[in-house]
Amino acid sequence: MTSLTPPSILASVPRTPPGLLSNAEKDRLIERAFLGLYRWYTARSQETRNWNADKSFDWRALRPDMPKEVVTVVQGFFAVEQYAPDYTSELVNLVRRSHGRSHFQLRWGSEEEKHADAWENAVLFSRQRSPEFIAEYKERLRSLAWSLPFPDAITNLVYTVFQERATQLNYLNLMNIARGKSTKPHLAGFEDPVLAKVAQTIAVDEAAHYNFFLEGVRLYLYYYPRQTLEAIRHVISTFSMPASQLVPDWEEFFETVYRAGIYGPRDFTRDVVQVVFRNLGIEGRKQLEAGIKATREVPDFENEGRVQTAIWETFDYGLVEGDVKRLHVKIEEYEREVGFADLDPTEFVQNPEVPRGALGESQEDK
Ligand SMILES: [Fe+2]
Ligand SMILES: [Fe+2]
Repeated sequence: MTSLTPPSILASVPRTPPGLLSNAEKDRLIERAFLGLYRWYTARSQETRNWNADKSFDWRALRPDMPKEVVTVVQGFFAVEQYAPDYTSELVNLVRRSHGRSHFQLRWGSEEEKHADAWENAVLFSRQRSPEFIAEYKERLRSLAWSLPFPDAITNLVYTVFQERATQLNYLNLMNIARGKSTKPHLAGFEDPVLAKVAQTIAVDEAAHYNFFLEGVRLYLYYYPRQTLEAIRHVISTFSMPASQLVPDWEEFFETVYRAGIYGPRDFTRDVVQVVFRNLGIEGRKQLEAGIKATREVPDFENEGRVQTAIWETFDYGLVEGDVKRLHVKIEEYEREVGFADLDPTEFVQNPEVPRGALGESQEDK
């Protein structure tokens, strides 16, 4: 900025302490990483997960005598995935200014749409629901619309991480039942290789979704730790599965899922929250709450330093930095392969706010 800049403009320029990244710069770095990740993701999706809801499974070989509880579960999965167009349009609108994120949501939507169709096929070929029932049920589902659970992009992104992991867990546990591994008396002895393959195929997609959104949350956690930790705390204290307010027979579905040992509150704590926390370097809920409480203290001359420190003590920032670096290595490799690297490479930029002293060499270079 030169001395010729009018004072009115000077006043409106956000002040960033020297040596730190401005929010605009942080946003640019996050956007670039999302874009690189999205392009890597799309190539990978087409190469490894390009299945078809009708033709990738031997639908005629699906058992016509599945336990009724299994059909209830599959029908519930079909119902939740039925809102794929709502999920996609709402999320695309939320992030429409971001090339990487909005294009990703379209790709993601095209994968979720396959899940809806595959689960519908499973309901139909179970032969325990008539085509008329399915058509009416679908009409009821679609008479209601899903809308975003949170008003802002960070919190919705965080929500999606937990939701994708929970969904993956639901499908993996149904897969285990279909492989004859249920320990519940009412499902013992049941086996269906076609259903197992459907559940596994969709669960692999959900794992890929989880990883994409997880990388996104890591980026935010690395550049905007305070807001991201707040969002995480908010999401876990209010979490419910998507469309739980919309699906007409949700209670029966949820009860059946719980009784089958597929998913319940304990699974959410142990196999969703704890897994996400581990992947984000957050030790536990208590540490998260305590860290956030400390950062909310009004900073004054005496405790400002302590408030800043408290943010970084809430999670293992060394681990997160290592993961963000690894993401960039993956993007760089992809860009070298295509040729983008010669013209416009994505580059990792360290967040100077990250305390350096405590970062061990080995941790930093991981
Ligand atoms: Fe899905
Ligand atoms: Fe998904």
